[in-house]
Amino acid sequence: MSPIEYTSELSGIDWAALTRTLAEDRFDNGRTPQELRTSFENSFAAVFAIDGEGRVIGKGRVLSDGVCNAYLVDLWTYTPYRRRGVAREIIGRLASRLAGQHLALFTDEAPEFYRRLGFVERGVTFERVIGNWLGR
Ligand SMILES: CC(C)(COP(=O)(O)OP(=O)(O)OC[C@H]1O[C@@H](n2cnc3c(N)ncnc32)[C@H](O)[C@@H]1OP(=O)(O)O)[C@@H](O)C(=O)NCCC(=O)NCCS
Repeated sequence: MSPIEYTSELSGIDWAALTRTLAEDRFDNGRTPQELRTSFENSFAAVFAIDGEGRVIGKGRVLSDGVCNAYLVDLWTYTPYRRRGVAREIIGRLASRLAGQHLALFTDEAPEFYRRLGFVERGVTFERVIGNWLGR
């Protein structure tokens, strides 16, 4: 496999291609390419993993108040690239922007992955969608 590069630069991202890759990898939550872009543009920090052909093969972002509370979302590694340290690198790069902050997340698919990265389970998660998902 080609070498992987990491970037926080949003301007070079092909959002339509990324949306297609996410759908193919069954990690698509219904956002259009423009909605995906807006999600990342409105985040505190974002990291993308890019393969040698310029394809996004991993991503993650955090919401944060910049002081004490941050929330990790949209973490994903393209299936053919899993178990090679991509998500660990993405979280490490995001965490480097979050010194002193509490970083929370929700997962129902990969709890053991987060344990390995030093996260601990705490409390109970509540959730509620306001109206219809994505307003549709
Ligand atoms: C979870 C996910 C992001 C992990 O990505 P990845 O790039 O394969 O992870 P890494 O290679 O960086 O793994 C880091 C460590 O976690 C371990 N790990 C990775 N996936 C794991 C899993 N599903 N269960 C248990 N351990 C896992 C790795 O073995 C590695 O451990 P090590 O460093 O001790 O050897 C990826 O499987 C994924 O995108 N899954 C689908 C989407 C998802 O569930 N995202 C999280 C939603 S909150």
